[in-house]
Amino acid sequence: MQTNQSSKTALVTGASRGIGKATVKRLCDMGYKVFATGRDANSLAQLQDETQCTVAVYDLQEADAVVALFKQAEQVLGHVDVVINNAGFNSRKSPLVETTLQEFDAQYAVNLRAPYLLCREALKHMLPRKQGYIINVISTVAKRINETMGIYTAMKSGLDGLNGVLMKEAQPNGIKVTAVYPGGVNTAFRAQARPQYMQAESVAYMITQLLTNPADVVVHELTFRPMVELE
Ligand SMILES: NC(=O)c1ccc[n+]([C@@H]2O[C@H](COP(=O)([O-])OP(=O)(O)OC[C@H]3O[C@@H](n4cnc5c(N)ncnc54)[C@H](OP(=O)(O)O)[C@@H]3O)[C@@H](O)[C@H]2O)c1
Repeated sequence: MQTNQSSKTALVTGASRGIGKATVKRLCDMGYKVFATGRDANSLAQLQDETQCTVAVYDLQEADAVVALFKQAEQVLGHVDVVINNAGFNSRKSPLVETTLQEFDAQYAVNLRAPYLLCREALKHMLPRKQGYIINVISTVAKRINETMGIYTAMKSGLDGLNGVLMKEAQPNGIKVTAVYPGGVNTAFRAQARPQYMQAESVAYMITQLLTNPADVVVHELTFRPMVELE
């Protein structure tokens, strides 16, 4: 069976911990050459030692840095087969009435603008090559509206819409696009530990399995949850 296993380079954001870090480890085990980014230089250096991936510190709040990040990935990897837009955060749970413009702007920059810029730069790179794979890590919040998650939900829903348009523009040109919607994951994403939620390694498994699918199959949406969540 023909597969897309020949795609062997990947750019992963949010690689300093959690889902991104576990995804980089799996990709390296699968033989991918990986360019991994985040802000925590120490954690990234450790990851580089463990996996031989290339790491680079970039703050996704800076739009120029996001574009520079992709350029560096192109230089380091030669070509970019896979982009995994994983970095993201929720500043806190709070009713909309208590949220601030600063929180809105920060989440807009990291959760929506940065993946938009990386999708755009990836398209410029992948369209002439007529191949590539862009995976956007969204969240089940884009499917199920929760109170006290207003800004985060707005940004992830925005990314969901962007992903849908990207899919329609990219797929006719040989580029796969998948929206990943995980339910709760037990990471530093929230202050309290949630052992009943999925492990980052399990989510990384689900993400990287996408890359093992036959070349003639594209998964448009991948929704999965811990056993304690029904929707
Ligand atoms: N945990 C969940 O329950 C859950 C559920 C559904 C979806 N998700 C999504 O899954 C993705 C990964 O989340 P996670 O659970 O692995 O969270 P995490 O452990 O908190 O990791 C988040 C990653 O994003 C990076 N990041 C945050 N702000 C950044 C910035 N300004 N510039 C560059 N990198 C930044 C962090 O790196 P630095 O701190 O080094 O910058 C870190 O590597 C996020 O998009 C999240 O929304 C999470």
